Amino acid sequence: MYYIRKVTDDLTWVGANDRRLAMFEGVYSVPRGVSYNSYLLSDEKTVLFDTVDSTVRERYLENVAAALGGGKLDYLVIQHMEPDHSSVIRDLMIRYPEMRIVCNEKILALIKQFYDFDISPRSHIVGDGDELCTGRHTLTFVMAPMVHWPEVMVTYDATDKILFSADAFGCFGALNGALFADEVDFSRDYMDEARRYYTNIVGKYGSQVQSLLGKASALEIAVLCPLHGFVWRKNLQEIISKYLLWSEYLPEEHGVMIAYASVYGNTENAAEILAGILREGGYKTDMFDVSVTPASEIVSAAFKWSHLVFASTTYNAGIFVTMEALIVDLVAHNIQNRTVAIIENGSWAPTSGGLIRESLEACRDMRIIDDIVSLNSSLKPAQLSDIAALAESLAASLPKPARAVADRAELAPDVVDPLAMFKLSYGLFVLTARDGDKDNGCIINTTVQITETPMRVTIAVNKSNYTHDMVLKTGEFNISVLSQDAPFRVFQHFGFQSGKDVNKFEGCTTEERTKNGIAFVPKFTNGVISGRVTEFYDYGTHTLFIADVTQAFVLSNEPSVTYQYYFDNIKPKPQPRKEKKKGYVCRICGYEYEGETLPDDFICPLCKHGANDFEPL
Ligand code: FEO
Repeated sequence: MYYIRKVTDDLTWVGANDRRLAMFEGVYSVPRGVSYNSYLLSDEKTVLFDTVDSTVRERYLENVAAALGGGKLDYLVIQHMEPDHSSVIRDLMIRYPEMRIVCNEKILALIKQFYDFDISPRSHIVGDGDELCTGRHTLTFVMAPMVHWPEVMVTYDATDKILFSADAFGCFGALNGALFADEVDFSRDYMDEARRYYTNIVGKYGSQVQSLLGKASALEIAVLCPLHGFVWRKNLQEIISKYLLWSEYLPEEHGVMIAYASVYGNTENAAEILAGILREGGYKTDMFDVSVTPASEIVSAAFKWSHLVFASTTYNAGIFVTMEALIVDLVAHNIQNRTVAIIENGSWAPTSGGLIRESLEACRDMRIIDDIVSLNSSLKPAQLSDIAALAESLAASLPKPARAVADRAELAPDVVDPLAMFKLSYGLFVLTARDGDKDNGCIINTTVQITETPMRVTIAVNKSNYTHDMVLKTGEFNISVLSQDAPFRVFQHFGFQSGKDVNKFEGCTTEERTKNGIAFVPKFTNGVISGRVTEFYDYGTHTLFIADVTQAFVLSNEPSVTYQYYFDNIKPKPQPRKEKKKGYVCRICGYEYEGETLPDDFICPLCKHGANDFEPL
């Protein structure tokens, strides 16, 4: 019985899962299985994207037939001809004699190499940027060589903004009933497998992946359809941001991965003690016995962590066999930009450390700690200091651990220092709203984008602001993002007076409005965002509004003002006084209160901050 699932109205997943495969590509264990994805686009012309591995052939052919619903198949697009995606081409050619095969020259050549049939008479050869119109949809083919093989291309459907991404953004693991990444807890349950897939399949080809990411960044993408793993239709940035890191060989986490090879447990003992010292110092560690854990997992971990330790016994006057295999694998996968420490062991002629160093020195940007800890058979108390020194050398280039911060917090358990809030990197914005014929605006520092699809922002607005009431009533607002060229008078105008007392837009010579009819500030700003409120929450002094973005555009490339920039460069500095006045000054807006004591419930008449934000003059 077929099993297919809709991706969009016009697109159907027709792939299949394999949970019996022991080793993907004969080398990568897949204990949670793997999916082979294929998609059928139903338009005036029908288009099938790639096929599957021969192990799931029967189910796949049923799926394709069901998705076609008795109709004909017009095109098969082959984006990647590796046999796990091309094994059913001949079956389709027989079943669908009218089917044309869309591919590039390299695919054509590789098919001839792998198979003893020729697709040339039915092929439709495309090059980079070529298009194919299927009716409502127009497909653009983009070459993506070496992501993962040289013939790879991806396809962009501009109509539904779908990128058929071939091996890119794929993942090990069968789909288990889910099709979309948002149907599972991807970061908890699948990110490790996505990293293992990336690093082992295309990890070597970082620059080629960067080039594909560059091409993709020019496209508006709503859905990612890879050849393995889940379809991405929400929060695409979660996986794209990882690809940006992985392809640049940047670590995801600061911490130390320790891989060791030990025959009688003594090298392991040294590795354990090193890990213990690091952990006691508050640093993150991850450990692998290279004779037990499959190399693909350790390669993946090496791409994740910033610091790598290799501890190996000497064997046949060289590196222990499983460690040697791992080092070869890491070098082959282009590992780079890591800090490395080495422990070697040897009972009569330790050599493994120097050989590991030699191999890794060939990689780019490897910072190898000079002192190799060299053991003779086992770690003795006299050498504990060498292990401690190695931990210290590793720690020297790691960020201060969270534990030190926790210690500081323990020292001041009851303190809530409002100054800590000033360490947040706020921007500054003019919030505008319109109620009937009345326009108003105020300064806020609390605009935050929370999601990309749909594009959504939050704003938190002090209830004493007149603009707050207008947003609450009308459910619409504009945010004008202030830029660094904004003079202090802009902040005075919108921030130091209330719309209840003055008309802030009176005398405005230019009236600029967005589609929602609300004014925005066209000068001293670099972008405008219109929001329609979907939810709001009462938080005492403030209301938190959640809003869909209905319009947004850029006005200039002048950098945005941050709170810090405002204080350092825009807000006038206090002038030296001839006579010292008695009183308090608001740290937020500079308002001065004259008097011996400031009442506890005093509220700044300008910026509405409380007595806590005042300091003596
Ligand atoms: Fe699943 Fe490179 O193919």
